[in-house]
Amino acid sequence: MLKDELSQILDEASAEIKSQSANLLDFLEQIRIKYLGKKGKLTDILKKLGTLSAEERPAIGAFANEIKTKIEELIADKQKELSNANFTKKLAEEKIDITLPAKQREVGKRHPISQIILELEDIFIGMGFDIGRGPEIEYTYYNFDALNTPKNHPARDIQDTFYIKRDGEEIREDDIVLRTQTSSVQIRYMENNNKPPIRMIAPGRTARVDFDSTHSPIFHQIEGLVVDKNIMLIDLKETLEAVFKSLFGEDTEIRLRPHYFPFTEPSVEVDYKCFRCGGSDDSCPLCKGEGWIEMLGAGMVHPKVLAGCGIDPMVYTGFAFGMGLDRLAMMKYSIDDIRNLFENDIRFLRQF
Ligand code: DAH
Repeated sequence: MLKDELSQILDEASAEIKSQSANLLDFLEQIRIKYLGKKGKLTDILKKLGTLSAEERPAIGAFANEIKTKIEELIADKQKELSNANFTKKLAEEKIDITLPAKQREVGKRHPISQIILELEDIFIGMGFDIGRGPEIEYTYYNFDALNTPKNHPARDIQDTFYIKRDGEEIREDDIVLRTQTSSVQIRYMENNNKPPIRMIAPGRTARVDFDSTHSPIFHQIEGLVVDKNIMLIDLKETLEAVFKSLFGEDTEIRLRPHYFPFTEPSVEVDYKCFRCGGSDDSCPLCKGEGWIEMLGAGMVHPKVLAGCGIDPMVYTGFAFGMGLDRLAMMKYSIDDIRNLFENDIRFLRQF
């Protein structure tokens, strides 16, 4: 009787262990509890062993233990099988296809503007210049007022300047702008306790409301400032000549033309001789037959600018210049549309 019950339990348990629902380890554990747990089916039967006669008990007891061991083995086998299956599945999922071609690593190229800036920095550092920096978002004080450009000056016109609305906070001047010129760095540099002799350049980004094939709302300039005793206009010319010779070759010639800037007196514009035609071609696409190409604005630093920065204009004089870098890069690399410089098309930028 008991023996039949025991055999039946083994059949039931083994069917359950082999069934689909036992494919989860949690269920398998439930099956183990159902048969071998404290209140399990097999345990129940073992309790009944006491009702057997002394002759019957050892044989049935041994048989019951055999059944118990078998069920345990079945469960252990199933456990092993499940964890093997999981492992195999994991292996399959995480398989790496080593025959796939490797990811291409794109190597970039320095932007033509950055190349020009680095080249110019090299030249100027070689001449003993320091590199000054200033913010691209600037107070009107540094962008205009301190540069002797009072409020009614046309350069401050809303047409040319990107104004930024301030948000409640108290600031030193009336407005904040995207700097329209790197000349603001002249003031910041002198205010920053840099005393003469000063030799400083400041390359950087500038912005104006302007957009066509030769004007971009964002552009770049390099500013220069030299302040010392006995600085004269000839020092400006000699310095710039040396720089352009390094950039474009020994034959380079420059000329100064009178001009007006609020922060220099006298002021000049500097041209260099067309390196394409040298003035010999009336239909030259580069200089338009002029023979000269306008490069930059410059002059002797206005006494008011020096005085405003705590430098005595009776003792010190200086020259300053500001040059557009985008046009320079366009010239150097024969780029005909300024917008190419800002579209960041890697196929275009790779060429330089
Ligand atoms: N800031 C001027 C501009 O953007 C260029 C310039 C002219 C800079 C004369 C100077 C200077 O430092 O002395 O048009």
